[in-house]
Amino acid sequence: MNISEISNLLADKLVNVQKEAVVNAKDSLLPVLWAIGGGKGGTGKSFISSSIAVELARQGKKVILADFDFGAPNLHTFLGLGLPRKSIEDFIAKKNSLEEIILPTKIEGLSLIAGDVRTFTPKGFKYAQKNRFINNLKNSNCDIVVTDLGAGSMLSSLDIFSQADKKIVVVTPEPTSIENMYQYVKKGLLRSIEKYLSEKNFLSLVETEFKKQKVGYRTGFKDRLDRLKRISPIIERYVDKSLDNYKIHIAVNQIEEEIQTQTGLHIKNILKNYLCIDVVSTKHLKRIPRFWTDPSMNAEKRASLINIESWVKSILEGKIG
Ligand SMILES: Nc1ncnc2c1ncn2[C@@H]1O[C@H](COP(=O)(O)OP(=O)(O)OP(=O)(O)O)[C@@H](O)[C@H]1O
Ligand SMILES: [Mg+2]
Repeated sequence: MNISEISNLLADKLVNVQKEAVVNAKDSLLPVLWAIGGGKGGTGKSFISSSIAVELARQGKKVILADFDFGAPNLHTFLGLGLPRKSIEDFIAKKNSLEEIILPTKIEGLSLIAGDVRTFTPKGFKYAQKNRFINNLKNSNCDIVVTDLGAGSMLSSLDIFSQADKKIVVVTPEPTSIENMYQYVKKGLLRSIEKYLSEKNFLSLVETEFKKQKVGYRTGFKDRLDRLKRISPIIERYVDKSLDNYKIHIAVNQIEEEIQTQTGLHIKNILKNYLCIDVVSTKHLKRIPRFWTDPSMNAEKRASLINIESWVKSILEGKIG
């Protein structure tokens, strides 16, 4: 190792010590962020995020369920509520404070930040607004924020997903859904690596290694990750750190046949082998008949029918992922 690399390492260490102090201070104030994403539409992201939020509240946590599906918000309907009076767009437009857009629900311990159902031109989050939102959460007096990120791989969705403490990806056992999920988690990981490297002005390396050249669909990503790591020990550390923070949980939803319960294991192997991503847990959820037509069905009954109690508990208690 030459002198400049040693001094870089030392500087890097100092930055990390300072960062850890900031992160620790931040951790004590900020609620834990759970993000539910997955790329493909209609797989069950809203169904699962609302059920998780209900279950967390049942387990005694103070929870905010946040509808960040800016194009097609509907979490209020999953919670059996009418059209929301206030939405996240009112906060983004600075019409209302965060406190004013946190709406009560019928479930104890659970509040809702709704999406805007009236607008024709949803704005969504820009970088600064997302940070303002996260900073404001310090005063929200809740333990956990569960966000539904909607379909698609927009940067605003990937940013929240890659930053979240608990990352949950929803798929159905169909090739199209698995394909979109693969693209989603890959882009999210790249976003996360970019963030780490940009802090040290190494971003141009990501540009060269991943973006300008076409990455082979299966093996290319891992090869280039390895090449990136070989550039220097510091870069290797940053890339490893991003991978360490990028652990995901998989929910395979709408299972109808026994054989489909193999899906989670296949996905786990694919993500590890091709993207070096650790899947911390997989959960298979059956398709519930008469989901909307049963008149006795409400959000709490739905959440209990899909049997997520122990899965949610294990995510909650998990030190990582
Ligand atoms: N396990 C399940 N059993 C029965 N119905 C389900 C299940 N999962 C989802 N659904 C139903 O399937 C439909 C699609 O689910 P949901 O709206 O949660 O998908 P989504 O991923 O949020 O879609 P979008 O990307 O459009 O927001 C909904 O009507 C939902 O109630
Ligand atoms: Mg949805």
